[in-house]
Amino acid sequence: MLSKIYSGTTIGLEEVLIEVEVDVAGHGFPTVTIVGLPTKAVDESKERVRAALANNSFDMPDSRITINLAPADIPKEGASFDLPIAVGILASSGMIKREELRSSLFTGELSLEGKVRGVSGVISLAHLAKKKRIKQFFVPIENVKEASLIDGVEIFPVSQLSDIILHINEEKPIEPFINTEGFQQTVEADFDFKDIKGQEQAKRALEIAAAGFHNIHLTGPPGAGKTMLSRAFTSIVPPMEKSEMLEVLKIHSIAGLLMRAERIIQRPFRNPHHTTSRIGLIGGGSKPSPGEVSLAHNGVLFLDELPEFPRSVIESLRQPLEDGEVRISRAAGTLLFPSRFLLVAASNPCPCGYLGHPKKPCRCMPGAIMAYRKKLSGPLLDRIDLHIMVPPVEREKLIDLKDGESSAEVRARVIRAKKQQTGRFRGTPVSTNGQMKPTDIKKLCKLEDKAIVLLKEAISRFSLSARSYFKIIKIAQTISDLEEKEQISALSVAEALQYRLTEH
Ligand SMILES: Nc1ncnc2c1ncn2[C@@H]1O[C@H](COP(=O)(O)OP(=O)(O)OP(=O)(O)O)[C@@H](O)[C@H]1O
Ligand SMILES: [Mg+2]
Repeated sequence: MLSKIYSGTTIGLEEVLIEVEVDVAGHGFPTVTIVGLPTKAVDESKERVRAALANNSFDMPDSRITINLAPADIPKEGASFDLPIAVGILASSGMIKREELRSSLFTGELSLEGKVRGVSGVISLAHLAKKKRIKQFFVPIENVKEASLIDGVEIFPVSQLSDIILHINEEKPIEPFINTEGFQQTVEADFDFKDIKGQEQAKRALEIAAAGFHNIHLTGPPGAGKTMLSRAFTSIVPPMEKSEMLEVLKIHSIAGLLMRAERIIQRPFRNPHHTTSRIGLIGGGSKPSPGEVSLAHNGVLFLDELPEFPRSVIESLRQPLEDGEVRISRAAGTLLFPSRFLLVAASNPCPCGYLGHPKKPCRCMPGAIMAYRKKLSGPLLDRIDLHIMVPPVEREKLIDLKDGESSAEVRARVIRAKKQQTGRFRGTPVSTNGQMKPTDIKKLCKLEDKAIVLLKEAISRFSLSARSYFKIIKIAQTISDLEEKEQISALSVAEALQYRLTEH
């Protein structure tokens, strides 16, 4: 008898419906064959399923069993097909009713004793069920919260293979998991802007970065507060759109980071250490998993002590920065993971850190300074719109008891600036000033006459490259958006000029 069970898999961020067809033929030598591009982990499924069934007092039928995972051209990875395969065998051997199965989706790994273990990418499968109008989703109990983040699909938590058998045979129904807690987005950060004394210029640059989604590089001596400023940054970023949230959840689910999902989420803030491998940063591996650049998608990638990262790792950031996505090549084709992140990088100006310090002398040899700077590749710095020096904060300011402006106040301005951009970019693929390419800038940015004069002067005085010229307009546009102005003023251009990359 033939049965068909729905399951699913992910290719990059895309989810695909997989039909698990199980045929149990009455005659012939008893064998189990899995076809349809299974990897080793999937092929091993039959052993796990055999043991799980036996330990639940259902012996694998003594027949020729053929399992087809369709469509056949999509590679199937991992152990998440254990549960649908087991259910298919039970249905085909007449041990469970088959009628219910067509409106259900199954995923889960089985232990030898029949326990259902958690798998990755469950939120994508819940979304898949919703899109395909499959009403019921049977998920490992560990993944239940995560699955319930998608509404419109009935979620059935399973901890044992026997739970499903009893449920489908209507002996002991499983209670569907109803999410009552709702869904919340929050802003949490280690520091609030009001805790940071002085540093007005750095705070302003961070405000511009958050408002226009511009990459930013902070340079300054040890203890100046670069790490503190960067950690406070997530407290001023605007909230995510619904579609952005879904992308973030899917990526984190695929990486297996959502198992104990809270119903509270915020823009990602990823802070990989400089010893992180290239695969850890960019993604990949034998079972391709998103790297830090994708985990930071729609959020912040903070690279503290940037020159400490190996040059090859820094270089590998160029493509994700440029394209907003990562391509991972495998034997079975290419995977795409999105990587539209805001880069916050921090560094010292030289190995000892005191180059340009108002009081302490720099002790580095000129050659050492050159070598240190060379590590930050030109092409990477080129993709950063805002460069800012963070000087040591003066002692009087540090002991000043008066609080500065709070993150909430700054964030309110950032949100207004974001709205300005949403209006301007409606109907275009661009959504933030930071993403604008020269053609978008020419089409969409309106400069006042005085601003044009000032820009022309700056081009000749600082011999600006075409790239810096466009960066300055982008930043000036964000400054104008923060002020809710329609046109870019000369004042905005003048401020934008301060954030360009200069040799110190
Ligand atoms: N402007 C400030 N206001 C309040 N506290 C500050 C300020 N700047 C620095 N600090 C304090 O000094 C500590 C060190 O700052 P932080 O680690 O951010 O410096 P850094 O610039 O990252 O230094 P390094 O180059 O050594 O990494 C902070 O944890 C904070 O307690
Ligand atoms: Mg630091």
